[in-house]
Formats: sequence, structure tokens, C-alpha cells
Amino acid sequence: MINKAPIGVFDSGVGGLTVVKEIMNQIPGETIIYFGDTARLPYGSKSKETVITYTRQIVRFLMNREVKAIVIACNTASALALETVKSEIDMPVIGVVKPGAKVAANTTRNGKIGVIGTEATIRSGIYSEILSKSNPKVNVFGKACPLFVPLVEEGLVDDPITFEMVRRYTGELIEKQIDTLVLGCTHYPLLRKTIRKVVGEDITLVNPAYETAKCLAEVLTDNDIRNDDTPKLNHRFYVSDGAEKFRQFANTILPCEVMETKDINIEELG
Ligand code: DGL
Repeated sequence: MINKAPIGVFDSGVGGLTVVKEIMNQIPGETIIYFGDTARLPYGSKSKETVITYTRQIVRFLMNREVKAIVIACNTASALALETVKSEIDMPVIGVVKPGAKVAANTTRNGKIGVIGTEATIRSGIYSEILSKSNPKVNVFGKACPLFVPLVEEGLVDDPITFEMVRRYTGELIEKQIDTLVLGCTHYPLLRKTIRKVVGEDITLVNPAYETAKCLAEVLTDNDIRNDDTPKLNHRFYVSDGAEKFRQFANTILPCEVMETKDINIEELG
């Protein structure tokens, strides 16, 4: 039965776990197969061609595990590779950019939206493109924050150095008087508390993870492949390097215990 098949979710590292957590909370009957491409992280400084190559390899890996749908839980891969991959496979594939942009468009009151993300996501201009389509009056201000991903991967989410970087990166957006800030990288919700302390209470922080899980639930229902069984907790986690470090990190984020994470040589497979 295809309904019982797992959902494939991937990111360059631990960031996609913020999306997995939402999927587990919103559609607990679904089994997850997660791949974190920790050996090749960061994606955010790579070219479009490279990110498409990596994405194709991971999609193949997930399809070999007979997933019924794929979530690209990485803004960079969603921005650079989603459309290509979608046209190549016959299965629902969703990314995190559209769901996040939708919330931001509905949230802003003054039309000034800040987007923080990796260099590749900001350079792609994808948030401005989608947001201006939904409302031509909005002004979108993007800011690449290349140091956030290594800070998160090193577990320095609450460190003085992280506070200083949040101050530097968000300063110019605050000056533009944004009222909404999109956390346009799946690693950034892990810095949420620090970002909140720096930007204050008046700016709404948009975390695309919640909306992405909601969008996944809709897609599964529309395709009649949703699994509403009692959760069996047989999720599986794979990475391309540092399995034990990843497992420990996952256990600080997810609502269930990750017992094992396996190392996979993705290049050899692809
Ligand atoms: N978490 C990823 C994103 O949402 C990217 C981090 C990286 O590999 O640069 O863009």
C-alpha cells in the first residue's frame, strides 16, 4: 500500500530537522526517511549546477527507499533545484520557499519584508519573485547570512558570537523598518530565540517549517496517499558524514528519540 510508504526529507545538514519536527507533530502517522548531506555542507555557497547534482543524487537515494513523496527541507536546494527535480520525477515533491513566502505575504502589515538566507538563496531572488507575484506592493529586502549555518552546526545557538553575528546581519533590515522577517534557511529556526532577542518583539518571524508540513499534509490528502495510522516511530536517518554527532543533535530537536543514524557514501551510490 502506497499510503504506508515513507516520506523522504533532506537537507544539507541538521536544518531540515526543523521541518521533520513539524511533520511529526502535524501528521504523526507518517514515517520519515531523512538524509542530511553533512559531508558536502554548506550548499549555500555552491553553484546552481552543483546543488542540482547533489539534489538529484539524494532524490535517487530516497526513491530507492520507495518513498511516496519528497520534501526538500532546504531553502537553497528548493531555490536552485526544485523545479528541475519536479520535472524529472513522477511523485509529489515540495520545497520550503513557497510555503514560507505565502505566510510572509499574509503576515506583513507595512509591506516591508526581510528575508535572511544563504548566499545562494538570496542571490536567486526567489523570495522577491514569489512575494511580488502574490502582492506587487511589497518591498523585499534580502540579506545573506553565511556564518549562521556553521554556528548552528557547531551547536553555538546561544553563544555571544552568534548574538554579535545576528546583530550585524539584521541591522540593515531593521533600519529598513521591516515588520516581517522570513527565516529563509531551515537552519535558522534553531537560532530563533537569539534572533528574537536582537530584533525585538515588533517584527514577526516567519518559520517556513510549520507551513511546509501543512502543505505536505494537503498534498498527501489530495493525492490520496496520507497515512493516518498510529505512529510506529520507525523513522530512519542517514547522513554523508558524522552520524553520531548528527544523532545527538537530532535528539535535542525532535519529539522522538533517534536511536541510530547511518553514514552513507552518496557519491558512490549516485
Ligand atoms: N539549510 C539549508 C537551507 O535551508 C542550507 C544550509 C547550507 O547548506 O548552506 O538553505
